[in-house]
Amino acid sequence: MGKRPHDPVIAQLLVPRHPVAEWTGWEERVRLMVRPRRYEHVLRVAELAAQIALANGLDDMRAYAAGILHDIARDLPDAELLRLAPPECDIDAGHPLALHGRAARVLLERWGYQDRVVLEAVEDHTTGPRGGNPVADCVYIADVSEPGRGVNADIRELALRDLNAALERAIVSKVTYLQGRGIQVHPRTLLSYHALPCVARQDQGGSTSLLTAPQP
Ligand SMILES: [Fe+2]
Ligand SMILES: [Fe+2]
Repeated sequence: MGKRPHDPVIAQLLVPRHPVAEWTGWEERVRLMVRPRRYEHVLRVAELAAQIALANGLDDMRAYAAGILHDIARDLPDAELLRLAPPECDIDAGHPLALHGRAARVLLERWGYQDRVVLEAVEDHTTGPRGGNPVADCVYIADVSEPGRGVNADIRELALRDLNAALERAIVSKVTYLQGRGIQVHPRTLLSYHALPCVARQDQGGSTSLLTAPQP
């Protein structure tokens, strides 16, 4: 394996050639916002997201930045999450942790972070990428499969060869798992599911897909 993005020297090289802007200080800001073990997870997600991006010819610097920022709101109290990101559905109201991606985006925007691609990846990492943002795909996959999780090694390895296939496997298996246990699927996850090319084709062909998208 080559040098990893969180090596200080490499991290310097990854500093912005695009509006990830004001990069200096963000890693430290994240470190102060989360528990120590969470920060270790954050670094692994950032590394892996960058590796997945590189392997798939995508923007590794934005993937790294989004990996660093994705869990910045993960250890906030429920009340703070609810204040930052008012619930959109029963799942959000009953499980405020589901809001930590949206809350993170709100926080980052308030602090002046402006890169829409990175912000969207941060927002979507909890419920699934909305489609059309490959950086969000990298971060989502890295988050569910980084080595510290001890699961999803197959998805991690697949993502380094074929990101779309890995995303399909991750999201389809998630909704299948939830549905099989009678657990309500988050509406945003359903949208992510229906944004998968394989499911969209199925939807357009009129065949019955696994789940039904929510009505507006
Ligand atoms: Fe998270
Ligand atoms: Fe995470």
